Amino acid sequence: MATDTAHDNQLAQELQAQRKELQDHLDIVQELVVKLDQQGNVVSINRKGCKILGRSRAQILGQNWFDTVIPAADRPGLKKIQADMLAGRHSKSSQRENDIVTKTGERRRIHFRDTCIRDSDGHITGTLSSGIDVTETRLQGRKVAALQRGLSQAAGFGVLGEVAAGLAHEINQPLSAISTYTDACLRILDNDDPNLAQLRHALNQVNQQSRRAGDVVAQMRSFTAQPQPDAVLVGCNALIRDLMDIITDEAHNHQVSATLDLEEPLQEVSVDPVQIQRVILNFFANAIDALQTIPARDRKVAIQTRRDGDKIRCSVIDNGPGVAESTVPKLFDPFFTTKEAGIGLGLSICQTIIRHNGGRVDYQPNPGNGAIFSFTLPIPPQHDPGSITT
Ligand SMILES: Nc1ncnc2c1ncn2[C@@H]1O[C@H](COP(=O)(O)OP(=O)(O)O)[C@@H](O)[C@H]1O
Ligand SMILES: [Mg+2]
Repeated sequence: MATDTAHDNQLAQELQAQRKELQDHLDIVQELVVKLDQQGNVVSINRKGCKILGRSRAQILGQNWFDTVIPAADRPGLKKIQADMLAGRHSKSSQRENDIVTKTGERRRIHFRDTCIRDSDGHITGTLSSGIDVTETRLQGRKVAALQRGLSQAAGFGVLGEVAAGLAHEINQPLSAISTYTDACLRILDNDDPNLAQLRHALNQVNQQSRRAGDVVAQMRSFTAQPQPDAVLVGCNALIRDLMDIITDEAHNHQVSATLDLEEPLQEVSVDPVQIQRVILNFFANAIDALQTIPARDRKVAIQTRRDGDKIRCSVIDNGPGVAESTVPKLFDPFFTTKEAGIGLGLSICQTIIRHNGGRVDYQPNPGNGAIFSFTLPIPPQHDPGSITT
């Protein structure tokens, strides 16, 4: 009996030592690491997590993670994700971004990776998430988007447009050279005794110039081609809310009344957040431009999100002049524009971005007046749960 107790004590001590070692390991990790039980209560959190949240471990342990650190609007969606994980319906390498609120009320954007925790029988007993604080990176992305928007406002087109305008000029030169040389070829051939050396020279020029135009197109492609999207799981509504400062400012400056009409809760999508925000801003900028033609008191634009079957649809709806029926087929063509200072690359780039993110863009007339530009994004399928065993 006495030896049993001694043995139990030793085991308990070893267990204690192992726990401590594990906690020490977690504490040197420079990511937030948090373990939740099935109710969403915090079972353990590492030092970095406490630091980001500005709370001591004692203040967090045992608290409900969602009710304590998640902004109220995001709680239902994130609770649903946890419920799905606990039910075994979650992607193995699930990644997503969401905000957490620190003790002082500041929001931090965290890029999370989640996995399930299983007991020795394989039952899911909780979830483990590790997260990197990407607040500054995202802020940078927003600044770039705002800057681009600001530039396009000031100059009628953005940095991208400026480069594209240059490239268009570059293409025009070889094209007019080709046309001159082919004219010359035809004239030479009209002769009874065509000068073959001149003909050869002219055809060589045509050849060289068309190669040159091809090179310019290749350059432009590499410029407008989007890099592989940096996909994370993120809510479209959150992406739109992040843009509210810019949207409100722009709407105010152009005497437009802008409203949000967001479906809640909404499934997350796996996308490159900054790219999707660029598309929303592009649609929005076009709506603002279109609305300048109607009286200020009537100008309205709404940004809407909806679940649409197995997709999420995001639409920018305005009550401007809309698009003439004959124009609709050209809307997404590169360089198609009806604006004096327009470049006509906005919608074509939006289309490329959305395609790269697995969705599609659409135009529809707004019943009544105006235009609806929207894009869809697929809701990622749910896979087998990832898991670790405790
Ligand atoms: N909300 C809208 N209402 C009416 N026309 C629009 C709207 N959005 C885009 N368009 C039309 O599509 C064209 C192409 O848009 P875009 O590719 O963004 O290029 P840009 O804005 O430089 O003209 C615009 O010139 C305009 O004719
Ligand atoms: Mg545009």
